[in-house]
Amino acid sequence: MSQRTSTLSFYEKGVYKIGDSVTLFGHQLVRKILENIEKDRHNRILEIACGKGNLGSNLIKNLNSYLTGFDVSNFLINYAKRSNANNKEKLEFLVADIENIPFRRESFDVIISVFGVSFTGNSTIIQELNYILKKNGKFIYLDIFLKKNLPHEFKKSHIFQRTCTCLHGVKTLQSQLLQLENCGFKITLIESYDAVLQKILEDAKKFKEKIFSNSVAQIIFTKEELDIVRLWLELYIEALEKDLISCIMIISSK
Ligand SMILES: C[S@@+](CC[C@H](N)C(=O)[O-])C[C@H]1O[C@@H](n2cnc3c(N)ncnc32)[C@H](O)[C@@H]1O
Repeated sequence: MSQRTSTLSFYEKGVYKIGDSVTLFGHQLVRKILENIEKDRHNRILEIACGKGNLGSNLIKNLNSYLTGFDVSNFLINYAKRSNANNKEKLEFLVADIENIPFRRESFDVIISVFGVSFTGNSTIIQELNYILKKNGKFIYLDIFLKKNLPHEFKKSHIFQRTCTCLHGVKTLQSQLLQLENCGFKITLIESYDAVLQKILEDAKKFKEKIFSNSVAQIIFTKEELDIVRLWLELYIEALEKDLISCIMIISSK
């Protein structure tokens, strides 16, 4: 299965049904930051790998901004369009791949990525983002970073092979900071959210038990979807228990 196909089947079948419990804290965080720095200004915001578009629809409620969100999944973008049909003048959703970003130079005041950039191993992405960001524009980047190189046996494991798209492009914080600086970004904030990640781990364990002992889950999810959700939860539980990953927010400006 190609990386793109496995990403699509992963998000379209199963993971999107879990809701935003995993990314919700990231959404709240980004909202707080933007409301503080962008008060009463008209802005063009880009959200990378926006999934169902929930962050965008919440964000623009309190901002005088226009948000464009893109995701590789046609299915999720259609979902985002449908659920935001009343807000077309402030929100736009389109299908695009992080590996091939279709925007002009200096198009955006703010770029947001909540667990998005880590889906690409392509190192030119940061350069591309700098290119499409306006001067003094901000890049708000919350993601998973590697604490150490992934052990060989972890990478060879069934769980990793089936879900590797999630951790495909994950880098160490050090290498990502270096890359941001080399591409012309000035780092203004680095904040760790490992405590939140630990909490998510605890919730993931409970959630895993719950969905497998819960007959409602067997109705909501198909057997194939349950399998995907289980693998996805196991991947993060194992990576966290082995202390391989951390969750960090980087804010930088051009
Ligand atoms: C962890 S989810 C995060 C979704 C959203 N940012 C949020 O916070 O709710 C990752 C998203 O990345 C998308 N994705 C994965 N690979 C991508 C790619 N190459 N280009 C664009 N989007 C991609 C997936 O379809 C999925 O919606």
